[in-house]
Amino acid sequence: MTQTPAEPRRYRLDATLSGSPALVDGSFRTPTREDLPLLGALMWDAYRGTPDERDAGDGVASAVAEIRLTFDGEYGPFLPEASFVAEEDGRPVAAALVTVWRGTPLLAFVFTASSHTGRGLARRLIHATMGALAELGYDRLSLAVTEDNARARALYESMGFVKVPA
Ligand SMILES: CC(C)(COP(=O)(O)OP(=O)(O)OC[C@H]1O[C@@H](n2cnc3c(N)ncnc32)[C@H](O)[C@@H]1OP(=O)(O)O)[C@@H](O)C(=O)NCCC(=O)NCCS
Repeated sequence: MTQTPAEPRRYRLDATLSGSPALVDGSFRTPTREDLPLLGALMWDAYRGTPDERDAGDGVASAVAEIRLTFDGEYGPFLPEASFVAEEDGRPVAAALVTVWRGTPLLAFVFTASSHTGRGLARRLIHATMGALAELGYDRLSLAVTEDNARARALYESMGFVKVPA
């Protein structure tokens, strides 16, 4: 497929889950549909101004719609058992949302409130996801990353994700 110059270049990264330790983190919980409005607001806040802003659409409403689509199976069945929300004072501040795309778990979205980045939240959420998936019997977690998203790439690569040949 030919890409227009405006289209960011993406590639797939995979991590092997065998040996991923299950991480029990009492501050994380499973996302539900009741979280949609707050998760949408959080997603827009996190993605706004980053190389992946367009993934959240053009505002809170489209971010809510995107998360609703994720819950509804747009990227394969949503996997609540391996998806997590981090809260502070009862409000979501970061989330990792996982689906199963063609049999392989997909980290569809991970995002941290702009006020809470750099504290290890995304790293801990992804660890929790990997541990939960290993316990469910999966051996791989896949994701798509944008070449320009240096921050996300550094995070994923430090967690053992490697590029999958196209
Ligand atoms: C990418 C994102 C999820 C990271 O969330 P976070 O909670 O700040 O991440 P963490 O604090 O767990 O940081 C983990 C790693 O990210 C990288 N990182 C964090 N802040 C960084 C910065 N300012 N510059 C470069 N790398 C950075 C580092 O590798 C860091 O590792 P370290 O903990 O050893 O320093 C967050 O910035 C975000 O929501 N971005 C917008 C949405 C997005 O791009 N999602 C990914 C789409 S593929």
